[in-house]
Amino acid sequence: MGFTDGLLVLLGQDVSRDAKGLNARLHFFGNIPVDDGTPFSPTPSAHARSQPVDKAARRPCVVALVSVNGGVGRSTLATALSSGLQRLGETVIAVDLDPQNALQMHFGISPSSPGIGLTSLRNARWETIQQPGFVGSRVITFGDTDMRQQDDLQRWLKHEPDWLAQRLSALALNGRHTVIIDTPAGNNVYFHQAVSVADVVLVIAQADAASLGTLDQLDGLLAPHLERERAPRVHFVINQLDEDNAFSLDMVESFRQRLGTKEPLEVHRDMAISEALAFGADPLDSQALTMAGDDINELCRLLIARKNHL
Ligand SMILES: Nc1ncnc2c1ncn2[C@@H]1O[C@H](COP(=O)(O)OP(=O)(O)OP(=O)(O)O)[C@@H](O)[C@H]1O
Ligand SMILES: [Mg+2]
Repeated sequence: MGFTDGLLVLLGQDVSRDAKGLNARLHFFGNIPVDDGTPFSPTPSAHARSQPVDKAARRPCVVALVSVNGGVGRSTLATALSSGLQRLGETVIAVDLDPQNALQMHFGISPSSPGIGLTSLRNARWETIQQPGFVGSRVITFGDTDMRQQDDLQRWLKHEPDWLAQRLSALALNGRHTVIIDTPAGNNVYFHQAVSVADVVLVIAQADAASLGTLDQLDGLLAPHLERERAPRVHFVINQLDEDNAFSLDMVESFRQRLGTKEPLEVHRDMAISEALAFGADPLDSQALTMAGDDINELCRLLIARKNHL
């Protein structure tokens, strides 16, 4: 039994007599509309090209970054994708739905800037709290909140599943906009609010057994959202990939077998990304950025392609 099969057996996915990993795929995806490996054309069809597109009349594309375990790079990628998409001509709003309030640091915004938490508790509108992000994008931070305020907000959101949808709708966004939502790790009200409005869910993982072992839980968390009309597309991104590490590459292969598709997508580990965070700088501005820059651009192009097919 190879490395991958052994690992999948450990995780309860015996694929030893299932060369293509079909059972694991069926188990995991059930009804999840994940890509089946069919090449996805980044350019619209001839028919679509012949139709004038009135972006102002269309709805924005909403992308939610999620994971069950923490520290995998959701906030980092939310920041880099916001910059990357804006550079490619999108109008981006990054929304921090994590009470940890980390996006302000990634974007170099003052931690005392007003954010979603207190503004929502005061029933004020979100327009007033938009901050300038990188290369013309905008950011809505979570802002500083204490434990009691966080508890109040959580209780409210639990009873109002349309909370985020209503607030985004009040921003009067249209087809020119892409909203990138950062979420806290795990099963929480913010995860469900974000996924409930998402057109695309990016599941961020690392090439390790901890991330691989969360996929069952993720299946359960995403399942109710995938039953709705206009269910979100789910993509898996392995972040901080180290190609010089044989174990990491084995783990990517394990993900691939588990997902049964050409996915996961990959973003390489790059010190320039960690350094950008330390200085609140745009990671895509770094001259030292190597493969991760190409990975992020590729991800951005995929998101734009998805948006053009909404
Ligand atoms: N591709 C990458 N290359 C190098 N370092 C990275 C990369 N992606 C993320 N990191 C580093 O990993 C650490 C965790 O990243 P980040 O805070 O974005 O994770 P997170 O999933 O948002 O964590 P949390 O669960 O705390 O919200 C940071 O120090 C960040 O600089
Ligand atoms: Mg984070």
